[in-house]
Amino acid sequence: MIDYESFFSRAAGHMHGSAIRRMGTVLAQSREIISFAPGYPAPDTFPWSDFSEIARELLSGRDGSVLQYGPTRGYEPLLESIAGIMQARGVRTTRENLLITTGSQQGLDLVARVLLDPDDVVLVELPTYTGAITAFRNVLATMIGVPQEADGVDLDALDAIHQRVVGEGRRVRVLYLVPNFQNPTGLLIGLEKRQRLLAWAGRRNVLIVEDDPYRELYFEDSASEADVRPIRADDDGGRVVYLSSFSKTLAPGYRVAWIDAAAPLTAKFELAKQAEDLCTGALDQRVIYEAMRRGVLERQLPILRCHYQAKRDVMVQALRSEFAEDEVSWPAPRGGFFLWATLPAQIDTENMVARSVAAGVIYVAGSAFFIDGGGHNIIRLAFSAPSHEKIREGVGRLAAVVREELAVSAAVSR
Ligand SMILES: Cc1ncc(COP(=O)(O)O)c(C=O)c1O
Repeated sequence: MIDYESFFSRAAGHMHGSAIRRMGTVLAQSREIISFAPGYPAPDTFPWSDFSEIARELLSGRDGSVLQYGPTRGYEPLLESIAGIMQARGVRTTRENLLITTGSQQGLDLVARVLLDPDDVVLVELPTYTGAITAFRNVLATMIGVPQEADGVDLDALDAIHQRVVGEGRRVRVLYLVPNFQNPTGLLIGLEKRQRLLAWAGRRNVLIVEDDPYRELYFEDSASEADVRPIRADDDGGRVVYLSSFSKTLAPGYRVAWIDAAAPLTAKFELAKQAEDLCTGALDQRVIYEAMRRGVLERQLPILRCHYQAKRDVMVQALRSEFAEDEVSWPAPRGGFFLWATLPAQIDTENMVARSVAAGVIYVAGSAFFIDGGGHNIIRLAFSAPSHEKIREGVGRLAAVVREELAVSAAVSR
């Protein structure tokens, strides 16, 4: 028998599956389970008829480049359209700064490969996005968490942690942030804090990686375009690597996203991408480009804001009516897909998964998002994909599960 373990690279030895992907497997095994686990867009919002019309035209065979290899940078007209999107977000950018990626997840992988050596330090929010944790872990970087306040990462703690780590002789290369409707907390970094973070990064010579897939999905009752201004918009010195994606606004199945960064960085990301996939799928890029050119994206955005805001409301109402006030609390989501719910301290949400699956509801345990072992009594609930009815039913099941857990822990401690 071959000992495959002995063949694995050091990096492969550190690779772990994501908790969210595992939940996806549970979900696939049972149709009865109501899933608040993966942050999937609602498939009934996808512009199906526009996509099928566009795809039919593209696949007519008139233009061979539709199914051909393309430049690693991306399809030129799409790059131009993305420069237009960036401009609308307040960022002046050119072709030299942009790279199309196969999902922002690839963007995170490229950032990790290009900017980090083993043992380099990446500062991340506590909690942070699991896909970023995976990308940073795969290059053997060391992640150190920075606590959050209601308006995002705590600046004093950030600087104190940075000084401590540098004092230990280590290199801090990157601060990773999701400023808009963060996955998993839904938090928004305040505008003034964004400015101060940029100034801090300049002072301490750290690059900011700004991951921004949710910014278009602000809920008009509590946030606006002005609240989601990218840090990159004020980045005159080229200190921010900005990532965004069409996954949440058009469809994640197309795997089209982009990086906007200083030209020398983007050139290196392009070289790293060549080794990963040569180029992002040509058909995917063309469909996304056409969807923009024909105004589909513009039309979708207000529809999506209303759709997800209504689901947020349904989930909040269900939590209020199914749980006692002291059983659950959450920061109000002002956009995005997620509600970050804290349960009583005696509950371990990882242990509770089995009981939840048996009751027909799943979530992601908070610990998946903490690199320091925290978050044991927190759950991330994605309200994006299930219907209103399923959200109500799922929250009802969850409340019953939490009550059972509380009863068991009370009995054990007696
Ligand atoms: C914060 C964050 N970054 C990146 C991604 C990956 O998105 P994409 O589908 O573009 O790879 C996600 C997806 O959930 C996300 O929440």
